[in-house]
Amino acid sequence: MSCESIGIGLVGFGTVGSGVWKTLQENSSLITARTDGAVKLDVRRIAVRDLTKTRDADAPANLFTTDWQAVVEDPSVDLVVELIGGTTTAFDIVAAALRAKKPVVTGNKALLAERGPELFALSAETDTPIHFEAAVAGGIPIIKAVQDSLIGNRIESITGIINGTSNYILERMTEAGLSYQDALQEAQDLGYAEADPTLDVNGWDAAHKAILLATLSYGFPVDPKQVYVRGIEMVRGIDISFAKNLGYVVKLLCVVRAHEDGSIEIRTQPSFIPRTHILASVNGVFNAVALRGDRVGDALFYGRGAGQNPTASSVVADLVEAGRVLRQRSGHHGFLPYRKEGALKSIDDTKTAYYVRFPVTDRPGVIAEIATALAAAGIGISGTHSPVNPSQPDADFVDMVFLLHTCPFGQLKEALKTIESLDCVTDRPVVFRIESLT
Ligand code: HSE
Repeated sequence: MSCESIGIGLVGFGTVGSGVWKTLQENSSLITARTDGAVKLDVRRIAVRDLTKTRDADAPANLFTTDWQAVVEDPSVDLVVELIGGTTTAFDIVAAALRAKKPVVTGNKALLAERGPELFALSAETDTPIHFEAAVAGGIPIIKAVQDSLIGNRIESITGIINGTSNYILERMTEAGLSYQDALQEAQDLGYAEADPTLDVNGWDAAHKAILLATLSYGFPVDPKQVYVRGIEMVRGIDISFAKNLGYVVKLLCVVRAHEDGSIEIRTQPSFIPRTHILASVNGVFNAVALRGDRVGDALFYGRGAGQNPTASSVVADLVEAGRVLRQRSGHHGFLPYRKEGALKSIDDTKTAYYVRFPVTDRPGVIAEIATALAAAGIGISGTHSPVNPSQPDADFVDMVFLLHTCPFGQLKEALKTIESLDCVTDRPVVFRIESLT
């Protein structure tokens, strides 16, 4: 079969956009051969904010414009790729493309997690798909796996390490003993963290991805405001070494789990996971998603969660899928929510064991006061420790660590309210989940 080429409009030509360009330059004929001549992808317009900026790929100057609308409206553009990030202009671009009945490919997790319901509704109304493989875990084909390959499964749980920057920082704190600040600086110097790493370290980049995986798995739009999210900013060397001594490693973990009452648990937070668990060896900027389905059982997806080529690999796969549909003129394969709503499990009802670090004034009775408050809340203690800084054995302020038995998070929150009001507790307690990951 041989067909006319399919026109691509790129909006955004940063790291990923240039990667898409280069991938198409180098692998286009392979793609055409693999699709039996049906899909020939041709970039026809590129919108950027600044025409004078030096680029990582040398696309011809006549393709560039600063006007994204000109790209979307160009009659020679059949598919629109949104790669600018953010949730405002990116929303307008995706909405305009859908209204023009041009399939969209995007890697924008924040956009789909925050404004997915509006965009998926427009996708249904215009019968035009949104493809977003690059939005979750970079080059790992997890969207296609959940949407297509595992379609015959009830998804029981998804546990993921899906922010490479946080994972890199935690690894450097663990392996090289770096402070959080130094590890973050290193991640920025190496170009792993975004220029503004806020969403990486406050947990929201990972949480947006977890929300998308939950929506795909359970079919209903998830309100980000109802999702519990904590990042790695509060992790200190002391937590890392404690975890190590107890046989755990600290990871920023996303947990999505279906409960028997039909509710769905979704949360993102720094967690202790057993050193022997396979996710414990996911290091550096790598991502991994461990999924359990009622038919497939346990499956693990591992790979590069960020970076030019891995992310471009996912964008190009989406372009080929969209191109195939255009050429075959069959119904689109984009995701559409299939349930109006579903119940999220309240974070207060989710249960694990915990590691809690209390910054305290070091005076007699501190352990007893905290233990009394925990006992009054019905929470068992499995261990406690007050680490001494060898260089300041008589320091007035120390961190007191408690390991707590499994209980609902709401029960712990109540106890923490009481404990925070004790005059010996000098700052907010830092809570880690201890995950058994069975
Ligand atoms: N900044 C993300 C990460 C990649 O560090 O994993 C894009 O979501």
